[in-house]
Amino acid sequence: MSPSLRTEQLTIRFGGHAAVHGVTCAFRPGELTAIVGPNGAGKTTWFNLVSGQLTPTEGRIYLAGRDITGLSPSARALAGVGRAFQLTNLFPRLSVLENVRLAVQARRRAGGRLLSRAAADRDTVAEAMRYVERTRLAPVVDLPAAALPHGDQRKLEVALLLAMEPQVFMFDEPTAGMSVDEAPVILELIAEIREDRSKTILLVEHKMDVVRALADRIVVLHNGELVADGRPDAVMALPVVREIYLGVGAEEAA
Ligand SMILES: Nc1ncnc2c1ncn2[C@@H]1O[C@H](COP(=O)(O)OP(=O)(O)OP(=O)(O)O)[C@@H](O)[C@H]1O
Ligand SMILES: [Mg+2]
Repeated sequence: MSPSLRTEQLTIRFGGHAAVHGVTCAFRPGELTAIVGPNGAGKTTWFNLVSGQLTPTEGRIYLAGRDITGLSPSARALAGVGRAFQLTNLFPRLSVLENVRLAVQARRRAGGRLLSRAAADRDTVAEAMRYVERTRLAPVVDLPAAALPHGDQRKLEVALLLAMEPQVFMFDEPTAGMSVDEAPVILELIAEIREDRSKTILLVEHKMDVVRALADRIVVLHNGELVADGRPDAVMALPVVREIYLGVGAEEAA
């Protein structure tokens, strides 16, 4: 299957330091890839390049074969790059349902769908309600977003992301800062997105138990460079990866 997302020789330098350096990789629909690597490896910077928060010094980004390197973050979002927990379109005083409905509407407007006003309203509410139910927010559907407990706000952010129907879902440490009660639901929601085998999911994650449970593939970044890419067991067994993670193997490698 042709890749949904591809980065080619993606590089960004801050001063003399290359935070991401020559990263070339492609991701297919139906694949959940964990992006791992030590602190400062360049994972979030690579995400920022893909979602458009940063502009590369060199290299290109392609979405379904289309060069999106020059697009703004919002244009990329509408094109299908869905980055979680970066949403600026959450309205604190509007209800859960209204927030999701507005996201559905925004996507439809961008898609230029034509319906009569009344039919469109019924339709967007019904669709919004499906995302509300899918993210387990039905019990709080009428509450203002600002009144939700933290865990429910994160679920609402996932609902808004789903409502945009992106081709690529990007999660950067999705359970960071969450309690042990809240984290499993978010991981469950990510696992459910994966069941729809047409989507590409990228997950930056430090917790290796989460990576093992969810990932079809692991990409390892280290000092801004892609140093390993493949099936989880194979990647985790590589000497270079063991060295990065455990500090072992340096002697054998020398
Ligand atoms: N705007 C910036 N200006 C200068 N340096 C930056 C900037 N953004 C990131 N960096 C540097 O780029 C490198 C990669 O940082 P990045 O945040 O991408 O790492 P990370 O892999 O996400 O780490 P963590 O696991 O801690 O989140 C670091 O050395 C960081 O200091
Ligand atoms: Mg990071």
